[in-house]
Amino acid sequence: MTIAVTTPTGHVGSRVVRLLLQAGVRPRLLVRDPARLEEETRSRVDVRQGDLTDAAFVREAVAGVRTVFWVDPTPHTTADPIETSLRTAAPLIEAARAGEVGRVVFLSSIGAEKRHGVGHIDALAGIEEQLDATGADVLHLRCAYFFTNLLFDLEGLAQGVLTTAFDPGHPMPWADPRDIGDVVAARLLNDTWHGRVVQAVHGPEDLSFHEVARILSAALGHPIRLHPVSDDATRDALRAAGLPPSAVEGMVGMTAGSRGLVPEQPRDLLTTTPTPLSAWAHAQLRPLLEK
Ligand SMILES: NC(=O)c1ccc[n+]([C@@H]2O[C@H](COP(=O)([O-])OP(=O)(O)OC[C@H]3O[C@@H](n4cnc5c(N)ncnc54)[C@H](OP(=O)(O)O)[C@@H]3O)[C@@H](O)[C@H]2O)c1
Repeated sequence: MTIAVTTPTGHVGSRVVRLLLQAGVRPRLLVRDPARLEEETRSRVDVRQGDLTDAAFVREAVAGVRTVFWVDPTPHTTADPIETSLRTAAPLIEAARAGEVGRVVFLSSIGAEKRHGVGHIDALAGIEEQLDATGADVLHLRCAYFFTNLLFDLEGLAQGVLTTAFDPGHPMPWADPRDIGDVVAARLLNDTWHGRVVQAVHGPEDLSFHEVARILSAALGHPIRLHPVSDDATRDALRAAGLPPSAVEGMVGMTAGSRGLVPEQPRDLLTTTPTPLSAWAHAQLRPLLEK
């Protein structure tokens, strides 16, 4: 029962690897730079070194694998992000269609249910649809907004400012990627689900950005002021930073398309994960800001 894991050095992937090792599995890791794995991990896994944008590498690395955990590695800043994400997933989809991969757990996102109009998330919707058509067993994990997105603007948070283009008063699900890794590992180890499955990972509670600013103020020990910005202001800032137009629209689209979104899967026992933002901010964010 070989399990292949992509992005094993990422927030979600690293947690998945740890749990698979603790479960007694020797996973196959598709990794660009094995030196980025912990030394203790390297001796316990089957390393396939390569870049996920290298189709020949991916095709060879997943062939004959029972289950693949697929994470789209495409940075939002890439030119033509949607096309790049779809092209990167193509060899996996080809292998699943050819029956060389039996099961895929795919890290998707809330918003993918809309299929179009959600910026770079449209690519995850496209990958979902293409995986569905392969005939393999596929699980789409529609994940909430990651706590780790807060790491993108450490400078702002250090200065007491939380900038967002999301509707500041609209609650949406937020999750700790580590908890998402728990769900991924459980699903990878369970060999009894079949067909097409969609499962959301919503974190412990829905939060508006106003509530996030309040929680961060308490956890970080200094006031965090919310700074709402418009889509056009975001566009201007991303353009000024030199991002290509397709990347700018991919990023603005994720926020604009998620506005007012009610996720397809309800919050319930299966979709709720435990770690509150306050605990994550205290344990992970605060030390980074104090450095
Ligand atoms: N952020 C959100 O709110 C959110 C919500 C729902 C879904 N998601 C999905 O979550 C995923 C990100 O997960 P994450 O936060 O765990 O990742 P992450 O911590 O940002 O790490 C990115 C990972 O991708 C790897 N990577 C990047 N480019 C690569 C390439 N060309 N070839 C091979 N590996 C490559 C990196 O490897 P190196 O160590 O080599 O750099 C690293 O392991 C995205 O697919 C996104 O769609 C995110």
